Amino acid sequence: MGKARERGILDIRLHQLRDWAHDVHHTVDDTPYGGGPGMVMKPEVWGEAIDAVIVGSAGEVSGGSIAEPSGGISDDGVVAGSSGESLVSGLEGEAAAVRGPVVGRTPRLIVPTPSGRRFTQSVALEYAAEPWLLFAPARYEGIDSRVMVEYASRLHVDEVSIGDYVLAGGEAAVLVMVEAVARLLPGVLGNANSVTDDSFAPGAMQNLLEGPVYTKPPVWRGHEVPDVLLSGHHGKIARWRRDEALRRTYVRRPELLPAVQDLDKADRQALADLNPDG
Ligand code: 6GU
Repeated sequence: MGKARERGILDIRLHQLRDWAHDVHHTVDDTPYGGGPGMVMKPEVWGEAIDAVIVGSAGEVSGGSIAEPSGGISDDGVVAGSSGESLVSGLEGEAAAVRGPVVGRTPRLIVPTPSGRRFTQSVALEYAAEPWLLFAPARYEGIDSRVMVEYASRLHVDEVSIGDYVLAGGEAAVLVMVEAVARLLPGVLGNANSVTDDSFAPGAMQNLLEGPVYTKPPVWRGHEVPDVLLSGHHGKIARWRRDEALRRTYVRRPELLPAVQDLDKADRQALADLNPDG
């Protein structure tokens, strides 16, 4: 990710939400209507913050009320070290150089929440095609819902979850998503082909886990690399990899198998061999 930023493929900016809280304590949360535990993030603060970040991009980037790029998620640990600070982090993809007219550009707004739709590899690919992502991670019990309603009339708003567990805040989820998206940007991965072989990659690997991988030496502590990988026979190697992907998925994530598309005859045979009774 650092390389992507150096090369100008990726631009990451962090903003401190509390910069838009105006009381002496820079309050960003309040008690929930209807009662209940925890606190809810105030709509006014988020509204001002998001407006400022969006407007700032339409004009000049520096100056104004926009926090200057305060360093990167990867190189100064601002997210991890924010300890209770909420962040608006803007992630700008490649479009920095090719965005065309700057005025009028708007980001896709991504609100991490355990009650969101699942963030998957397909969603990562969608995000990688966007010129600008604006992440709005919440602390406490979440952001006042009217913020998402308000911006949905102006922006594409996604509430997304990275998995079925609850984090104390959305910042770590943003890191996860930025890592997943950044490696998909053109020019980031050494071997651009490798994304199509990823576990879950749309296409042949959709709903499949990648199988095991090996490197030199051919024998390590008595453990051998499978012969086929040393054979130089590309067709057999591809078939072996496919079988191993099916096997691993069958063992570790059997619930995925019904959704695997376009099983060919050899795939069906491999699955039948795994499950002689089924
Ligand atoms: Cl995106 N946010 C939080 N706070 N918890 C989560 C999550 C997101 N995804 C799974 N758990």
